[in-house]
Amino acid sequence: MSSAFNREIFWMSVWAIAFSIIIFIGVSYALFATVRRFREENNSAEPAQFHGNNRLEVALVAVPVLIVIVLSVLTVRSMARLNPTPENATTVTALSRQFWWNFSYPTATAAAGGVVTNGNEMVMPTRNPVAVTITSGDVMHAFWAPNLGGQRNATPGTEKTWQIDTDRPGAYQGNCSMLCGASHANMRFKVIALEPERYNAFLAAAAAYRAPTPAPGSAEERGYTLFMQGKASTGALACAACHRVQGTPANGAAGPDLSFFGTRRTLGAGMWEGERAEEMLIPWLANSPGVKPGSLMPPYNGATYQVNGKEQKGGVLTEAELADIAAYLRSLRLPEEADYWRGTP
Ligand code: CUA
Repeated sequence: MSSAFNREIFWMSVWAIAFSIIIFIGVSYALFATVRRFREENNSAEPAQFHGNNRLEVALVAVPVLIVIVLSVLTVRSMARLNPTPENATTVTALSRQFWWNFSYPTATAAAGGVVTNGNEMVMPTRNPVAVTITSGDVMHAFWAPNLGGQRNATPGTEKTWQIDTDRPGAYQGNCSMLCGASHANMRFKVIALEPERYNAFLAAAAAYRAPTPAPGSAEERGYTLFMQGKASTGALACAACHRVQGTPANGAAGPDLSFFGTRRTLGAGMWEGERAEEMLIPWLANSPGVKPGSLMPPYNGATYQVNGKEQKGGVLTEAELADIAAYLRSLRLPEEADYWRGTP
């Protein structure tokens, strides 16, 4: 249990269970002692008859009141400790959409507009509370990374803050925990906790990041051009219309931020990881709604898809063109020292 939040909740439960066990043992003992003592074979005569017992009645009221007071004090203390925005907290904004996440970090430098954003992979420092501001761009979702703390609803039009934390560096699983549509189960995210020095290095490098300019004549350059302009002759929309890549004209906000796509290990909001994510990149680009139900990204293999309930035909790119876009996306990498996955198995 590396999270102070989870330890707080754990010890609250221990107290509540401890009281329950003591009460259970007390009541059971009294019951069996009474049954044993007043068995008919021991006491054929009628037992003593009396009304009221002041000491017993006072105890019956006082003991539960005492238990409630102790549990209330513990609860209020935990609530104060789990204040969603401690003063020393690192702040991150989690924007949820059908069916993906964008994580934004305010940075000290004005570069990149003072904010660094990455899709579906959240980075946080260890040994420091993190205040996550949770919001939604469409329907209700919920932010939940069970090993780091409790869950919190993401409601459109409102911002709620929630505290998470951990002592242990590593990658943690997150999930949308509010039924939100066809790919609710495919709305995952990763939280990568880094030692504070590495977190700061990530943030500084990410703020200074500018997407590399592809070499003339390279696959990356062809991919870059398709990414920015699409291909009007076959109805293929520009990726840049919906996605942002820091340091390029691509500034779309309808889809996840792809600034550090090459550094990511996951694809499709955590649907695939590692090698599987690599293998799925071209099928994903070719027909995103075909491999992830409800995905709003149009297909690029001419398949049909739904736009506001109406069937529409996707644009067409060749396998080679999709491979060029994939090459461009993979070239969008943070510098080695800022690679938040480095050292994570
Ligand atoms: Cu978003 Cu469930």
